[in-house]
Amino acid sequence: MSISPVLAELHASVPVVEPSLLACDFAQLGQEIRRVEQAGARMLHLDIMDGHFVPNLSFGVPVVEAVHRSTHLPLDVHLMISEPARYVDTFREAGADLLTVHIETLPDPRPLLHQMRRMGVGVGISLNPPTPLSQIEGCLDLCDHVLVMSVMPGFGGQEFEPVALDKLRRLQTMVGPEVLLQVDGGVNLETVRQCALAGADLFVVGSALFSQENYGQFLEEMTGLARKNTCKIA
Ligand code: DX5
Ligand code: ZN
Repeated sequence: MSISPVLAELHASVPVVEPSLLACDFAQLGQEIRRVEQAGARMLHLDIMDGHFVPNLSFGVPVVEAVHRSTHLPLDVHLMISEPARYVDTFREAGADLLTVHIETLPDPRPLLHQMRRMGVGVGISLNPPTPLSQIEGCLDLCDHVLVMSVMPGFGGQEFEPVALDKLRRLQTMVGPEVLLQVDGGVNLETVRQCALAGADLFVVGSALFSQENYGQFLEEMTGLARKNTCKIA
């Protein structure tokens, strides 16, 4: 199966620390994007929340379009929404390079994941901390990445839940190196080490990054820790 240039580049760049714009200053969105670009970010994580699947609202398609117009960085769009099948096309058109849907929203994930493959987007499945890996086992062959939630989705700034580490370790035995493992929620300079040791390739970071004065120094330090502790063969 051939992979898109964006995925090929991502594979060549791991470990990748991804700023989650949820924690940025939205009053300065363009400037925040420029700051993380200059800080060396390789991809941006955009959290879409519908107030239904998760108890919070964030932003939608017009903001994804605006971010797309403002940067050449790939966009990784995390759909925390019910009925994602209704919206994947729209988010792809808005500029998503990677799209992640939640298994908890999909009684049968395979048709939607097939559809996403046909769209040429990087295909991801995510699961919440209480959701067992057995629920995604049957669709891993259709995924380019698996997003392991290390907090209940809906809010930034929560404490890391170690249940994610066990899932990352077990996922390494369930998928090949062509599937990237992503961790999201409570990732900071302390927890990044454990995540890397457990097998994460992509590290989503919101509040720990945007609370810093110097994004470049933080991204460098975080990426260094991820690289130093990775259990993946270089
Ligand atoms: C949480 C979102 C995360 C969030 C992470 O529901 O999926 O991407 O922005 O934020 P931190 O890093 O603050 O936990
Ligand atoms: Zn997210």
